[in-house]
Amino acid sequence: MTENHTLTVRDNRTGEEYELPITDGTVRASDFNQIGKSADDPGLALYDPGFTNTASTRSSVTYIDGDKGILEYRGYPIEQLAEKSTFLEVAYLLIHGELPTEKQHEQWVHEITFHTFVHENLKSQLQGFRYDAHPMGMLLSSVGALSTFYPEARNIHDPDIRHDQIVRLIAKMPTLGAWSFRHAQGKPYVYPDNDLTYTENFLSMLFKMSEQKYNPDPRLAKALEVLFILHADHEQNCSTNAVRSVGSSQVDPYSAVSSGVAALYGPLHGGANEAVLKMLKRIGTPDKIPAFIEGVKKGEEKLMGFGHRVYKNFDPRATIIKKAVDDVFAVTGVNPLLEIAQELERIALEDDYFISRKLYPNVDFYSGLIYEALQFPPEMFTVLFAIPRTAGWLAQWVELVDDKEQKIARPKQIYTGDRRLDFVSAQERWK
Ligand code: CMC
Repeated sequence: MTENHTLTVRDNRTGEEYELPITDGTVRASDFNQIGKSADDPGLALYDPGFTNTASTRSSVTYIDGDKGILEYRGYPIEQLAEKSTFLEVAYLLIHGELPTEKQHEQWVHEITFHTFVHENLKSQLQGFRYDAHPMGMLLSSVGALSTFYPEARNIHDPDIRHDQIVRLIAKMPTLGAWSFRHAQGKPYVYPDNDLTYTENFLSMLFKMSEQKYNPDPRLAKALEVLFILHADHEQNCSTNAVRSVGSSQVDPYSAVSSGVAALYGPLHGGANEAVLKMLKRIGTPDKIPAFIEGVKKGEEKLMGFGHRVYKNFDPRATIIKKAVDDVFAVTGVNPLLEIAQELERIALEDDYFISRKLYPNVDFYSGLIYEALQFPPEMFTVLFAIPRTAGWLAQWVELVDDKEQKIARPKQIYTGDRRLDFVSAQERWK
């Protein structure tokens, strides 16, 4: 029972006390606004750069308990989903809130499969990029451009129209991602193959050359499926917050999702696995590890792929990825950097510096090794994150659109600039 829980706040400026209701472990920021409010004072506000202790929404999509290392989508543990489900089933679960019946699943897979093609004009847009364009830049602009092909998408309150755009986005992301990859290599874009599964088709669009039909190794397709499931959602992270914030203006979902791609492009969000790979290459051989660890402990640099803002025990995704590493290397041969990664992990997990700070391998520690073994250049790593995260962004966007409590995102500020200056014309100032 939390209904009667309250917080008493005493304003020491005036001696006045206020009783604020506590609901679900939170107090409403707007309840603070009555404190000190007068004709000359707008009332108390909360200051929270980076929203480190501010809930922006109620959500039933993803649950995380960082201390216990728990991640659940719609209540289902990530371990079970990664082992027993497929990415498209998980995408359905995230968006619809429950697992599909056989008929719903069949219909969902059919719809996604038959919307994988993109308009030919979009292909021309991609071809207009320079040969060395970053694939994330290409992806973000082409996702945004999709809104111009489907102007009805702006009817965000019509469930049928909304459904069509969700299907289109999930279906077309691999096509756009794969074409951005082929572009950098100067290779022709490969059209989707609708006989293949979601991840098989993605591999085909990435790697098919002159063969009539590309037959992806099922073990690689399965490993990619697991990686896609692990990356499908992670509650209110930077890119999801971007999608929600932009979506709160009631813009179409293509524009909202393109803002998520933009946020993910940033190195603090989607780029850590690339940094892990660079770090492992720099270390080079296992005998250099102790000196490297000493440098980390002296604060000279970070052990990339270790530590997490939320997970302070272990990152459940890292445990699953470690298993996928073996499956992938069974096909591709072992990445020589694996030995260094394993030895680094072993040493760090026994070292008091890392133990006392609760630093454990995170999702990015091993994913870069897998991606490299699959022949992806580092610039593609974030694209491989954006494709599955689209399902999570859309699930969160649907929740936002249907949430009567949500408003256009519009934070307050603490103004620190000048006031009431007298304008001096250019002629006067430049005299
Ligand atoms: N290597 C060495 N020391 C570290 C590391 C690390 N990777 N991470 C944290 N620390 C230390 C940090 O210096 C601080 O030490 P002290 O208390 O002596 O000042 C202490 O541990 C607490 O760190 P923090 O910076 O307060 O922790 P945070 O929650 O703000 O940062 C983090 C979390 C993920 C940004 C950070 O651990 C980090 O930079 N890790 C390396 C980058 C990385 O792997 N990022 C991927 C995150 S997972 C991707 C995702 O979920 O989206």
